Amino acid sequence: MSNLIIYYSREGENYFGGELKNIEKGNTEVITDYIQEFTGADLFKVEPKVPYPESYMECTEVAKKERKDDARPEIKESVGDISSYDTIYIGFPNWWGTLPMPMWTQLEQLDFSGKTVKPFVTHEGSGFGRSLKDLDDLCKGAEIMNGLSIPGANVYNSKDTVKLWVDE
Ligand SMILES: Cc1cc2nc3c(=O)[nH]c(=O)nc-3n(C[C@H](O)[C@H](O)[C@H](O)COP(=O)(O)O)c2cc1C
Repeated sequence: MSNLIIYYSREGENYFGGELKNIEKGNTEVITDYIQEFTGADLFKVEPKVPYPESYMECTEVAKKERKDDARPEIKESVGDISSYDTIYIGFPNWWGTLPMPMWTQLEQLDFSGKTVKPFVTHEGSGFGRSLKDLDDLCKGAEIMNGLSIPGANVYNSKDTVKLWVDE
């Protein structure tokens, strides 16, 4: 069985329980690396052509506008053909209640018929928000399994939780 992880994660300034901190590895990427370690999955990181601002506040503004405009920001590269994979893990931070818009750009280009999708999210309190509903539309034809939701501040303490979820 072959697995692929498609994810987006942003390093730089982020907000943790009332404090701004600079992080070298994004929260979602920490979870991605655990999943990769447990499954041996191939990895694909979605990267917008125009990177988001380092500043957390500026980033939230750019992302808010993209969400409002229902934008599809250009991405550097597309994962291309996913036909050889059975299970696709899809990981992202909750941005304004759903997936960051570059993930929409990427996922809309793919054919999910017959795939098993395992979604995971990191967040600052809202869990998946409405992203699971959005994933139903974005991954038409896929069977969407139980999702994994981890608060950003807990990612480094969640390796066991990730393992249990991967083995479900
Ligand atoms: C633009 C933006 C919007 C966000 N919106 C939400 C939100 O609506 N709900 C929430 O719980 N967290 C929100 N967050 C917090 C992130 O989901 C959280 O910090 C996440 O762990 C970041 O993952 P990353 O480091 O992989 O990018 C937002 C963060 C950013 C930068």
